[in-house]
Amino acid sequence: MTATSELPHRLREALIAADFTVDAVARLLGATAHSALARNQTAPGLRRTTDGSPLATLTRLFLLQTAVPRAAADLALPGLVDRLAVDGLLETTVGEVRARLDCRPYAAPDASGEHDFWVVSDLTPGLDGTPNRVTSDHVLGISSASTSLAQLTIRDDVTSALDLGTGCGVQALHLATHAGRVVATDVNPRALRLARLNAALNDLPSIEVRDGSYFDPVRGEQFDLIATNPPFVISPGTGERLVYRDSGLPGDRVVEDIVRAAPRHLTPGGWCQVLANWVIKEGTPWDERLAGWLEPPAGEPGLACDAFVVQREVVDPAAYVELWLADEGAPGTPEYLRRYDTWLSWFADQGIEGVGFGWINLRRRPEEAPGTPTLRLEKWPYDVEQPIAAAISGWGHAIDDLAAIDDESLLDVRLRRRPDVRQETVGEPGAADPEAIVLRQQRGFRRGHAADTVTAALVGASDGDLTLGQIVDALGELLDEDPVALRETYLPVARDLVAGGYLEV
Ligand SMILES: C[S@@+](CC[C@H](N)C(=O)[O-])C[C@H]1O[C@@H](n2cnc3c(N)ncnc32)[C@H](O)[C@@H]1O
Repeated sequence: MTATSELPHRLREALIAADFTVDAVARLLGATAHSALARNQTAPGLRRTTDGSPLATLTRLFLLQTAVPRAAADLALPGLVDRLAVDGLLETTVGEVRARLDCRPYAAPDASGEHDFWVVSDLTPGLDGTPNRVTSDHVLGISSASTSLAQLTIRDDVTSALDLGTGCGVQALHLATHAGRVVATDVNPRALRLARLNAALNDLPSIEVRDGSYFDPVRGEQFDLIATNPPFVISPGTGERLVYRDSGLPGDRVVEDIVRAAPRHLTPGGWCQVLANWVIKEGTPWDERLAGWLEPPAGEPGLACDAFVVQREVVDPAAYVELWLADEGAPGTPEYLRRYDTWLSWFADQGIEGVGFGWINLRRRPEEAPGTPTLRLEKWPYDVEQPIAAAISGWGHAIDDLAAIDDESLLDVRLRRRPDVRQETVGEPGAADPEAIVLRQQRGFRRGHAADTVTAALVGASDGDLTLGQIVDALGELLDEDPVALRETYLPVARDLVAGGYLEV
C-alpha cells in the first residue's frame, strides 16, 4: 500500500467506524482473553469474538490471526478487502480472508497525552506455541523495548525530532504528537514502507521517512530530540542477520557510534535518548567504559553533552544468549546447542562477562551555559514510576540550577523538599534513635538515600522558608557542631540531594 494513495485514509475510516480502539478491543476480549493474548495464546480470545461484528472481525483477523468469512471481512472493511489483498495486508482464498500483516490499535503509554494510533507491522510470530520464526527483514510491532523507549522519551514540545531505526515507525508516531516535524530513518525497505504507511494511516504528515543508515540521511542536520531503539544485540554475527536486532557491527559498536555521533546532530539544549545494551568487559568498570564514549569530539567543546546513563539490568552471558536465541525461535532446532556454544565462546574470547541493559540520555549543553558537562552514570535496577521521562528532564533542570549557583550562593538559596519524599527509619521497637534513616522518593526513580540525622533534618527543614545556610547553622547550634565544618560537609550533600531529585532549587 503506498502511503500517498487514498487507501490509508479509507482504511482509517473503516477502523474508526468499527471502533477498533485499544479500549474497545480490551472490552470485547475481557480480562482473561486479553491476558492470554499477551502470553501469545488465542483460544480464550477466539471464544469471545464470535458475534460477526466489525470489531470482532478485525480482532480475529489481526490480533488473533485467524481466517474470517469473506462476508464478515467485507462488512468490517467495506470495499477494501481486494485492494488490501493486492497491497499485501490481507490474503483472500475462496470464501475466507486472512491477515498477512498486523494492524492494531495502540494507545500511547507516555506523557504525550491521550493518543490512539493504529500500527501496521509484521504479524506477531509464535502464537499458540508455533515456532517463533521470523525473516531477516522482519518489521517488529510494538515490543516491550518500544514501550520502554516511548516512556523514556521527553515529551516537551519541540521543533524537530529524529527517530533513528524507525521500524514500523512507532516512535515517530509518538514524536509527531509534540514535534513540529519528525524525520525517521531505516535501512530495511519493508520497514520504510510500513513506517510511511503508518504515518499516513494516522494522518501525520509531519513524519518524513528517509532511507539510509543511522545518521547518513540527516547529514548536516540538527534536531531538538533524537529517540532511538537501535539494533543493539551483541552477538558473534554467525547466525542469519535479523535487521531489527543485529547491527552487523562488532560488540556494542552500534551504540557507541550513535552516542559519539549524536552531539553533532543535536541543537544546543537538545536531547538524544538511546535504549541500549552494552558490554561489561572483564576488569573494566561498566561506567568507566561508557564514560569514554561521552567525551566531546576533540577540538569541539561546543558539542559537549551532559549525560545521564542508567544501567537497569546486567544479564550474564548464558542468560543473554538464551534470551536472543529464544527471540528468533532457535530452541528445539538441530543447530541450537552449537549456536549457543559458539555465542558463549565468542563472549569468552572477547572478555565479555555480562551485558548491561539501560538508557543513555545525552543533552547538548545549552548555548547560554556552555560550562563543564555533568556525567551521571548510575545503576538503578529497581522499579521506577513510568513514564520515567519527567524524571530525566527534571535531572536536566536540576543540573542547570546547580551549575548556575556556586557554593557560596547555594548557602543563600531556599531549597524545597520534593513533596513525594518520605522518611523511613529502621530500628529496634521502642529504641529512642533509629539504626538507619532512608529518604525515599515515592515518584520518578523512587530512589532511596541513606541519611544521617543532619541530612534528614536538613531535608525536613527545607520547605522553601529558610536558606540552606540558615538551616545548617541552626542544626550546628542544636547539635553543638562547628558551623564552618558543618557547612563544608553538607554543601556537597545538598548538591547531591538536588541532583538526585530530593530537593529542588
Ligand atoms: C529494535 S528495532 C526498533 C524499531 C522501532 N524504532 C521501535 O522502537 O520499536 C531497530 C530498527 O533499526 C533498523 N536498523 C537496522 N540497521 C540500521 C541502520 N544501519 N540504520 C538505520 N536503521 C537500522 C532496523 O531495521 C529496525 O527497524
